[in-house]
Formats: sequence, C-alpha cells, structure tokens
Amino acid sequence: MSDEIEKLKMHSPDLTAQNVDKIAALFPGCVTESRGPDGALRRAVDFDLLRQELSDSIVEGPQERYHLDWPGKRQALITANAPIAKTLRPVQAESVDFDTTRNLFIEGDNLEALKLLQSSFLGDVKVVYIDPPYNTGKDFIYNDKFSESRSDYLERTNQIDNDGNRLVANTQANGRFHSDWLSMMYARLKIAANLLDDDGVLFASCDDWEAANLKRLLDEVFGESNYVDTIALEISTTSGPKTVNAQQGTIVKNVEFVHIFRKSPEFDKVQHLPLYDSVASYDTHYSMWLHEDGSLGSLGEELLKDESVAKDIERFDLKNRGSFSINNLDKLLAVSEAASDFISKNLDRIASIDRPPVSAQDQDCEPGRWKEFAVDHRTYILTKLSNGKLKSLLPLRLNYRTSDDYRPKFGRTVIRGDIWKGFYQDMGNVAREGGIAFSNGKKPVRLIQQLIKWANNSRNGIVVDFFAGSGTTAEAVMKQNAEDGLNRKFFLIQLDERPSETNESSPSDFENIAQLSRERIRNAAQMIDVESSHVGWNKDVGFRTFKIDSSNMADVYYTPDATTQADLLTRVDNIKPDRTPEDLLFQVLLDWGVDLTLPITRETVEGKTVFTVAGTALIACFDNGVDEALVKTLAARHPLRVVFKDTGFKDDATKINVKQIFKALSPDTEVKAI
Ligand SMILES: C[S@@+](CC[C@H](N)C(=O)[O-])C[C@H]1O[C@@H](n2cnc3c(N)ncnc32)[C@H](O)[C@@H]1O
Repeated sequence: MSDEIEKLKMHSPDLTAQNVDKIAALFPGCVTESRGPDGALRRAVDFDLLRQELSDSIVEGPQERYHLDWPGKRQALITANAPIAKTLRPVQAESVDFDTTRNLFIEGDNLEALKLLQSSFLGDVKVVYIDPPYNTGKDFIYNDKFSESRSDYLERTNQIDNDGNRLVANTQANGRFHSDWLSMMYARLKIAANLLDDDGVLFASCDDWEAANLKRLLDEVFGESNYVDTIALEISTTSGPKTVNAQQGTIVKNVEFVHIFRKSPEFDKVQHLPLYDSVASYDTHYSMWLHEDGSLGSLGEELLKDESVAKDIERFDLKNRGSFSINNLDKLLAVSEAASDFISKNLDRIASIDRPPVSAQDQDCEPGRWKEFAVDHRTYILTKLSNGKLKSLLPLRLNYRTSDDYRPKFGRTVIRGDIWKGFYQDMGNVAREGGIAFSNGKKPVRLIQQLIKWANNSRNGIVVDFFAGSGTTAEAVMKQNAEDGLNRKFFLIQLDERPSETNESSPSDFENIAQLSRERIRNAAQMIDVESSHVGWNKDVGFRTFKIDSSNMADVYYTPDATTQADLLTRVDNIKPDRTPEDLLFQVLLDWGVDLTLPITRETVEGKTVFTVAGTALIACFDNGVDEALVKTLAARHPLRVVFKDTGFKDDATKINVKQIFKALSPDTEVKAI
C-alpha cells in the first residue's frame, strides 16, 4: 500500500461512468475496457450486444417503438450526466442560524445544484415539489449550452456568454420551442429522480400548455408504472373579465395540474393521509339512531322528540303525515339552528349501515338492536337486519371533522379525490402570503403543505424544490412541521434571476429572486406561531445559504500532468487565492458525499484552525505548517474521515508519515488531501 495520501476528486460525480458501471454489473460482456493515452481506464458499452441481450429475437437496426422524442434529447442526457468542476460556497451573511439549521438554500442554476447534491443526498429525498416555468412563450429558460459538457468542463468552468447571459428567452417563434423546454426539464428531472428515496414522490405543477409533454417526460424518467395521478386544481372561477369570454362561448380556464410520480412501489407502503373537503349537505345514509339501551331507532323520530327542533319542523312545514323524513334534513338545517346543534351533539348516536368486517362473520346479533365488537384494536358496532343479514353501523362522528378547506371548519366532510376545488380562494390571497410580492407564478402555501401532508412519507426527511421562486415550499414545510411536529428539512434552489417586477413603474426591492425568496422565508418564519406549534417540532426556521461558483481548486489540481518541475519545486498552491477554509470544507463534504447540513465547529488545535463536522463525521485542517503533533492529536479523536491540504504539511517527512500515524492510532479513519 502506498503512503501517498489519496487526493479528493473535487468535482461532481461522473454519472455516465456510474451508469456504465451499473450496466457492467448486470451485463459484463456488454462493456469493453481500454486504456486511454493518459493511461486511465475507459469503459464503453457495446450497445448492439446490449440490445441483443435484452431481446429474444435477432435485433437488426433501429425499431419503431412508442416513446417521446425531440431534437436535443440525447444532448440533454449527456448534459445531465456530465460532471462539473463547481462547488457550493457558503454565505453566512445571507443565512439564518447557519451553524445549527438543517435547511439549505442554494442560489444558482438548479441543474448544477442537483449535480452537486448527488453524492451527499443520493436516495435521501422524500418529496420533490417543482413549479417550473410553464413555457408560455414569455419564459426565460436556462441555457444549458453554458453548463459544462463532458469533454470541456475543466477548461470552461464558470463561463457565460459574451454578454453575460445564461438565460435565453424561449418564445413560440423559436423553432425548438417545446424541444428546448423538454431538454431543460429532462436533464433536471433525471438527476432529481436519483435523489429520491424509494418511498419518495415528485409533484410537478403545470398548466394545460405543457401538461401532456410533462406527463410523457415523467413517464420516461420514472417509468409509466410509477405514475400516481394528476390533480386538477381549481385556481379560478368564471368571474370578472373571464365572464365576458365565457358568455361568448369560450371555455375559460379554471384549472391547473399537478402530476404525481412515485419513485417506486415502496411509496404505496406508506399510509397516506386523506384530505377532507367540507360539504354543506347532509348525507342521508346516516338515518339510524343508537339508543343507549342497545335498541335501534331512526333519526327522524329523534328529531321530532326534541322540543326546539320539533317547533322548527312545524314552523317551516317540514312534516309529512305526522313524521319527519330525513330527506328534508338539508332544508331543516338551512333554517334551524336547533337542528344543527342537535346533529352536532349526537354524532355518536347517529349512524349509517355498512358491510361488517370479515372477522365479524361468526357474530350473532338481535335484529333491531346493536352491540359492540372489538377486534384488531378497533371497535365495530354490529346489528342484524330483519332479513337476517349482519351489518355494521358507522357513527356520523367518523365523517365529521375539521376539513382541509381554505377556511377549515368542523362539520361533515368528504374525502378529496383528484379534483382539488376551492383553490381560487387561496389564489385570491396568494399575493399577500409570506409578506412578499412575486408575480412569477407564486403558489398557495396550502397547496404544497397539503401535498406534503398527504404523501406523509417525509417524517424527518428532505423536501426539495428546485424552482423555488418566492420560497413557498419552505413556508409550507415549516407550517406543516409546526402542525404535526415532524422535522422535515427543506432544500430550495433558485437562480439569481432578476424579478420580473423590475421595471420603472414597479421596481422590485430585490436584486434577484433568490434574495427575494430568502426574505420570504425569514418573513414566514416570523409569522408562524411558534408558541402554539406542536411540541415535537424542533422549530428550525433557519437555512444555510450557498452560492454555486467555480471550483475552489486551481486548474493545476485537475491537470497534475501539466505541472512543471518548477511548479513542484515552488510547491505551487492548488487552491484559488480568494477561497476561504469554509469554502474548502464544503467542497470536501460534497466530494466525500457527507451531509451538508451537519453541525460544524471551528476550533484552534496546536495553533491551527480545525473544523469538526458532527463530532466524528469529518475533521479538516486547511492551514499550512501542519506538523506531526497536530496529526497525532486529530488521530486520537478517531474521526471517520480526515482531510488536509496537500501543500499544507510542515515538511515532506510529515506528509509521508500522516497515513502511518493514522494507521497506528486510528486505523478506520479515511485520510485524504486536496
Ligand atoms: C414559476 S416560478 C416558481 C414559483 C414558486 N412555486 C412560488 O410559489 O413562488 C419558477 C422559478 O424557477 C426559477 N428558475 C427557472 N429556471 C431555473 C434554473 N435553471 N435554476 C434555478 N431556478 C430556475 C425562476 O427564476 C422562477 O423563480
């Protein structure tokens, strides 16, 4: 074993190489290996052989098949898989509770951010919510031409075009209007899907313009079998200016959509939480009355027995041949407070007839009477009809609860399906939410909060929004945590794009949307009633801000072969001069795949600055003049990983001894240098 300390790669993972490795594991014969001029091992897939492996008949030439295709699709895949020599630089001044928070805010292009997060959070994310540009013809989309391609990423790090543009207008006049949008989305979705845990789920907002394309694209990324549903969201009513168009026969647009895809069938093993909408009408199936003595009666009779209710039945002429039919109950409830009170007070007495549980098959009951039957930690109410059939009785209380409406109310509810009505009410207030104006498709907090609530898979997991806009997802996560006491984390990614309000008539207070988004998270945190929040919530309303930048490492780091003898003699520093030790620390965490949200402490040991990540997860020292005394002190702490600067050792002897010292004092520690 060499005593040379292994160097970290300091670039995001090469996903193409990882994919080739996966294929090699399954079909070793389909992957060929050769050595390049630099001596490095290169693997390539023999596609003809692979195709043949996957077919039980002779494969000849390309076949017609059902799939979504567009010009630029292959390039998008290459772009998605190419590694980038970039990093996330921490910005303490634009963070809240930097040292302790587990939430992240990344400013920059989401493709690059998603690539950088790959190693640290692969398979860790429970929910992705995205609200991408709808490609309406007015959108700007990120020009991925300027993201590094596989071959030239080392030379072209951090470049933008001559005018400094990274965003290009995608107008309908562009012949590749849909294709460019699809390419932009494809690359990002491919990587986002990798981040999801097996029981993870993705929600993607869209309108009718790209809904069909987005559905097909997601089918391809997740597999058609992982399509869960598409929610139709009622975001407006036919009112105001829309009425004129509607009167002229136009079908006006009142809905948007949310496509839902799960990562795998594991998502279905989670108990999802139904959402409830309130309904004013009475469900007339609830017509039975459970008398305390075990006999059964009818609700109609009981209503007449109550003096105040009976008076109202008489007054509004709702009696029929001396009795009261509960088919008239809606009419009665509309006018009689006494009747509403009576129903609310007797939710346990009023019941509907349902099928009995299978486990009750052998139970006997007297017709006209009810009895309780406890099984599997549940209590059923059983009765027998006059025809001898066993039934169970469901008390009305089971369908009375606080609804998930815009204004929640206690009352009769129905379980919401894939039509999410009434969100136009939220839209009416959305501009005020989070105390920040944002005109680029701000979504209601309730929408994202309820999606997270329904999924119910995120426990203390990560919720990612990589088209963060005004930061609604962060507010939704904090509010849901405050309500149910879970400790989900939010990771938001937002480009430093100028807000569209920035014009002379309505200038924005913010230079860019990322800034605006952070301000909204701060506002939202203040508006949450922390005092009356769930006791289980850790009350984390902070966030660590990072900005995407070129690698901290100078070109010489990536091209050691080009280093001259003279460079070696002067021990040329391979770190860019403007980079701080904190910058280096986070690039090392990314490279090593360590969680970026772990707590970090900084201390002085043997006169040098030492960073400790989550106790023993990683120890780093990027100072010059590291001597054996320091190395021994750090080894005695038995960290899982330790990293130094390659040029940071006091002398060559120390550098040579580092691995030996750790081998002797802390053999399980991984030792690396940058
Ligand atoms: C429709 S808005 C999202 C609105 C958000 N749901 C809300 O409630 O405020 C889409 C956002 O994605 C951002 N965006 C577009 N392309 C991006 C990219 N390549 N990387 C990061 N953000 C991007 C835009 O700047 C915009 O703020």
